[in-house]
Amino acid sequence: MMKESDSPIDFYDRLAPYYHLIYPDWEKSVARQAGHLDSIIKELCENKTPHVLDVACGIGTQSIGLAQLGYEVVASDISPKEIECARNNAKLRDLNIAFSVADMRAAFSHHQRTFDVVMACDNAVPHLLSDAEILKAFEQLYLCTADGGCCVVSVRDYAAMDLTNTQVKPYNLHQEGADRYFLFQVWDFDGPIYELSMYMIEDKRNAECAARVMRTKYYAVSTDKLTELMTAAGFRHVQRLEILGRGEFFIQHAAHVEGDVDHVGEQLFPEKRPNAPQPERGGPFRTLDRH
Ligand SMILES: C[S@@+](CC[C@H](N)C(=O)[O-])C[C@H]1O[C@@H](n2cnc3c(N)ncnc32)[C@H](O)[C@@H]1O
Repeated sequence: MMKESDSPIDFYDRLAPYYHLIYPDWEKSVARQAGHLDSIIKELCENKTPHVLDVACGIGTQSIGLAQLGYEVVASDISPKEIECARNNAKLRDLNIAFSVADMRAAFSHHQRTFDVVMACDNAVPHLLSDAEILKAFEQLYLCTADGGCCVVSVRDYAAMDLTNTQVKPYNLHQEGADRYFLFQVWDFDGPIYELSMYMIEDKRNAECAARVMRTKYYAVSTDKLTELMTAAGFRHVQRLEILGRGEFFIQHAAHVEGDVDHVGEQLFPEKRPNAPQPERGGPFRTLDRH
């Protein structure tokens, strides 16, 4: 059971008005990520007019981009303030997305229906601080995924990172007119769990700057462990892709529920081409080249 103090709600509620500052240009990232997701969905999903569920939509980074491409999107997140921001962002763009507040560990109980594509992008899943909590979420995402549908999860590649001591991660210098926002993170490790402090310095070119800090916890879970947990939750054909991401460190997981998948994924997964050697069904799959 996650302790209330480990919940990321307060972190994201406080970060919501500034979340877009994490990106050099949020609009461009929205469009770029939607392009990547669109190609993944077209390759993986059997339904050619897929309905999408985003269970960690935040301020709408992926939901809005996909809705702009014409997808029907339903989106939820655990942070009420992020959902408020996402609603405003969608309204400003005249997009019809059904937003609601929900914990992904209760995604099916909350949404009560299936979708062709279920996603949790940009390192949302590692906010769940144990294998048991992640499995609980994946079981709910599995119930939300229609036959022949897919589930897309993007996370940091923790196995490729140094997970010790205290680390400083410069994040972004964001310029809005003359105003500057400097964001950096400090990670304090305690085993595989680390506390992330997000520092934001707001420089309005006065003598004094304003500084804020927001803290949350993450579980530095490996993609191998996520593959194992997705498979345990019922997903088949779990694959690690290295093609999506705002930064260099994001990895994509995709899982396909029952159905004939041999004809899908030919571009993304060359081993699925009719004459190519096939990976063993139901197991973890190979890594693709990052682009
Ligand atoms: C790094 S943000 C990514 C948000 C969004 N996908 C984006 O790229 O802008 C991680 C998100 O996961 C959400 N989150 C964390 N734990 C959650 C949970 N148990 N259920 C639903 N959302 C959760 C947070 O509120 C936050 O919006």
